[in-house]
Amino acid sequence: MGQIAEITVTPQDTGFGALIEGVDLSRPLPPAVLEAVKAAWARHSVVAFPGQPLSLEALEAFTQAIGPFGVDPFIAPMADHPNVLELRREPDEKATNFGAGWHSDWSFQKTPPAATLLRSQVVPPVGGDTLFADCSRAYEALSPVMQAMLAPMRAVHSASRAYGTQGVFAKETAKRTMEIIVSPEADKTLTHPLVRTHPVTGRKALFVSPVYTVGIEGMTVPESQAILGFLFAHIVQDAFVYRHKWRKDMLLMWDNRCTVHFAEGGYDGHLRVMHRTTVAGEVPR
Ligand code: SIN
Repeated sequence: MGQIAEITVTPQDTGFGALIEGVDLSRPLPPAVLEAVKAAWARHSVVAFPGQPLSLEALEAFTQAIGPFGVDPFIAPMADHPNVLELRREPDEKATNFGAGWHSDWSFQKTPPAATLLRSQVVPPVGGDTLFADCSRAYEALSPVMQAMLAPMRAVHSASRAYGTQGVFAKETAKRTMEIIVSPEADKTLTHPLVRTHPVTGRKALFVSPVYTVGIEGMTVPESQAILGFLFAHIVQDAFVYRHKWRKDMLLMWDNRCTVHFAEGGYDGHLRVMHRTTVAGEVPR
């Protein structure tokens, strides 16, 4: 545990992720406290703030203290809050819960979001954990030979598997409260370095995920599948994963540049309501 400025940062037992206490996010943070929060986030990648019953306006204000809003495509935002998504699943919903696949948010964008902030309003009594994998540690655990092989590669990203015209949501028939916008825009592809360097810490991280990475530039499908299949399984090994258990009024902020996450289900019959914002990022390098 460490006391920085006025905040207390307690690393999770997994060695990845941390709890931040001693801060009230409902009001503007003094500059030194904000810098301490940002530093803890850079160091631990996934930071949880318990006991933060934030209004949507306070969530928006804290998000903007971290950086400008990102662009959230393919999901209708909340009325009157164009930068907030409500991740809501009703007790009677049978559709797979939103986010149930390993991904880094909107990695198919030219400048994917640096941060995602997720605040819990209604937490089910069972299930609904969010799992995070540490893509920096996963990269560092690879052999130097594998690291050298991956270094020049560019991964192909696309939203097609989820939001494309032939994607999962296009074929969905079960009722879903969240309004998903299926679009040909989602079928577009772009490339990013397969290994990216964090602009703040300088650490390298694998930047691929099974939901949004659809290939490796210049490789055949079987070649891409072999390498990506290995990397997907490698990243989500227990040794690199932190399981976040929610309590009501928690805010979680994660770094999409060096983590992937997975929203677990297991709460059919119960309401779950979360509010989500993103912070704009940079072109991955
Ligand atoms: C997501 O942003 O992928 C969803 C996370 C969650 O609902 O736990």
